[in-house]
Amino acid sequence: MEKTLVLIKPDAFDKHYSGDIIKRYEQEGFRIVAMKLLKMDERLASIHYAEHIGRPYYQDLVGFMTSGPLIAMVLEGENAIARVREINGKTNPAEAAEGTIRKQFAASGRRNAVHASDSPASAKREISIFFSECEIYDGTYEIMG
Ligand code: CDP
Ligand code: MG
Repeated sequence: MEKTLVLIKPDAFDKHYSGDIIKRYEQEGFRIVAMKLLKMDERLASIHYAEHIGRPYYQDLVGFMTSGPLIAMVLEGENAIARVREINGKTNPAEAAEGTIRKQFAASGRRNAVHASDSPASAKREISIFFSECEIYDGTYEIMG
């Protein structure tokens, strides 16, 4: 079982797509093991997007990511990191495959609805930016009737 960090970005949140996006991940069999709503500030953006600092689009990316609330969550499942990236689709919706979240919900290569970790190392790093250990469910799923 793998865990990955997903963000529902401010564009998708603002357009009321959050429910549809969460539903899609659940339908694909992932479990939500952590979730919160927050507004990213510039400091948090600079930590989360550290590898993008200095790129030509960085300031606009930060402006977009801090422009409204977003939902952060940790999804758990087999091969979650690669599978969630695949379900999300390519960064630019114009290049994203049919049936992907970005194809369906993204407006542009910047305002692209979702973020997901791209490797086990990024997943570990990114999950710890948004969640403390006690905020991540790590128990069983035997729900009592
Ligand atoms: O999110 P993903 O891993 O698919 O793409 P990335 O190349 O790691 O870029 C991170 C985010 O920066 C993208 O999801 C876009 O929101 C934004 N970006 C942008 O605004 N303009 C670009 N030319 C490239 C990325
Ligand atoms: Mg990336």
